[in-house]
Amino acid sequence: MNIVIVGPGAIGSLWATHLHQAGHQVALWGTQNATHWSLQCDEQPKLNFAYNQPDTLHRADLLLITVKAWQVASALPALLEQIADETILLFMHNGMGALEALSDRLAPYPVLLSTTTHGALKPAPDKVLHTGQGQTQIGPFNTPGARCEFVCDVLQHALPQVSWNQHIEHALWQKLAINCAINPLTAIEQISNGELADPRYRARLDNIIAEVAAVMRAEHIPVDQHALRATVDLVIAATARNRSSMHQDVVHQRQTEIDFINGYVVRKAQQHGLAVPVNQQLYQHIQSLQQSWTQA
Ligand code: PAF
Repeated sequence: MNIVIVGPGAIGSLWATHLHQAGHQVALWGTQNATHWSLQCDEQPKLNFAYNQPDTLHRADLLLITVKAWQVASALPALLEQIADETILLFMHNGMGALEALSDRLAPYPVLLSTTTHGALKPAPDKVLHTGQGQTQIGPFNTPGARCEFVCDVLQHALPQVSWNQHIEHALWQKLAINCAINPLTAIEQISNGELADPRYRARLDNIIAEVAAVMRAEHIPVDQHALRATVDLVIAATARNRSSMHQDVVHQRQTEIDFINGYVVRKAQQHGLAVPVNQQLYQHIQSLQQSWTQA
């Protein structure tokens, strides 16, 4: 397939190298001023990719869009102008709600959503490290997307395990709950994920998950609150030495994904008349941190 990776950060670069190795024609699209880009995954040979070449968009069968949730709205219009109507759009990012305001514009295209637990790190612009084996779920955002289950086999061949989930929003909510619990707390406290196992964080983690579970129930998303809370502890243990993406964003004073993580839960809670004070407080704390950098 002709595949363009839009926003080749750590996860995008991981998929770029694996899809290339699986025999696909892979190109990159990003913010650098370049026409070619090389990438090395772990100790594999360096691979060369076309970069920001418009003809790669014109003939793309699949766009794998790995920009952050808050970048989707600004990145998408220019991309849509350059692709064919049959081009499949596959989004992979933390958080939810990035496509809500765009669903009319996306209606003609087959659109897929995904969530992955692979760990990846980009220590240099041309280097990506696969730091943790994970799993990927993909599923449809719209009716044309529901006919694209074959994309699951394409991805599975390149970087297993990949499964098709007809109700991908269920998996996205599960991942959202994990991010609501881990990301803002690690960012505010400036701690590694593993430090959240300290008993002093237990009550706050319990409350975050109880609030998210209440919103999930209001949204008719199946949820077992105790299993979800246990999953958070498993992720904390499995990623103990990692610094969460929001922790890293705060350290580097970069815009975070808070609007699409706890902010999304707060917006959905308001729609259902539910109070989510702990998520609201975390949302406001990260927002005020962000504002303090832009005002400085
Ligand atoms: O955003 C992140 O950092 C990751 O999604 C997770 C699962 C919290 C692990 O660090």
